[in-house]
Amino acid sequence: MVLVKSAAELATMREAGRVVAQILQAVRAAAAPGVTLQDLDDLARQLLVEKGAKSSFLHYHPSFAPIPYPAVLCLSVNDAIVHGIPDTRPLADGDLLSIDFGAHIDGYHGDSALTVGIGTIDEPAQRLSDVCKQALDAGIAAALPGNRLGDISHAVQSVCRAAGYGQPTGYGGHGVGTAMHEDPHVPNEGRPGRGLPLRAGMALAIEPMVVESGSDRHRLMRDGWTVSTVDGSRAAHWEHTIAITDDGPTILTAV
Ligand code: MF3
Ligand code: CO
Repeated sequence: MVLVKSAAELATMREAGRVVAQILQAVRAAAAPGVTLQDLDDLARQLLVEKGAKSSFLHYHPSFAPIPYPAVLCLSVNDAIVHGIPDTRPLADGDLLSIDFGAHIDGYHGDSALTVGIGTIDEPAQRLSDVCKQALDAGIAAALPGNRLGDISHAVQSVCRAAGYGQPTGYGGHGVGTAMHEDPHVPNEGRPGRGLPLRAGMALAIEPMVVESGSDRHRLMRDGWTVSTVDGSRAAHWEHTIAITDDGPTILTAV
């Protein structure tokens, strides 16, 4: 069931989204060569306490996962696409890191991700991240009342495919509200003018993922969570939680 949120609910989601954005910025600023993924998760945990918000990810246990999620960040390095579990591995110069973070305040969630280069990254890695961000922006711009879900999906897909990138089959965004994952699923590929009619008050996470080689294939790693490319090619991932309003889309996960 796709829920339409009241103005009061969206205001609480905006608060949660602001905290998500602030913590994401802090984690991005701390991500440097030699810093471990665990260090970044520890930082996010500490900031959650300071800001009085709760993790959306920690202990989250969807039916597809063998174990509850054990961290507050998803940190996906290079060929990891999404849902990488932080460990004691140090970041290295040239790594491409996706940082995905969700938090809730008074039971309302925000979910956002960005991709950042560690130290100095090569030009193709920067382009991969930039195009993924452009796909997110295009998806957000299509989130208008009167449009349909397929308009968002098509906008995302058009940017990713025009650049020659792969998109992991089946992965996409989702509704957000009193649960991190609500209906509808927001595919990263679709046909314009098709699917659910978009209405003011809907809150969606839009999250494009791109694979450098052009392959759409992905695999689940042995930790039961990390989704990686099959050919070792690098991936990028960007995400915002947005609200559809009569004045256009509003980014809830902005500082
Ligand atoms: N943004 C990710 C998603 O919507 C967050 C996953 S959280 C996890 O899939 F807890 F499931 F890892
Ligand atoms: Co999400």
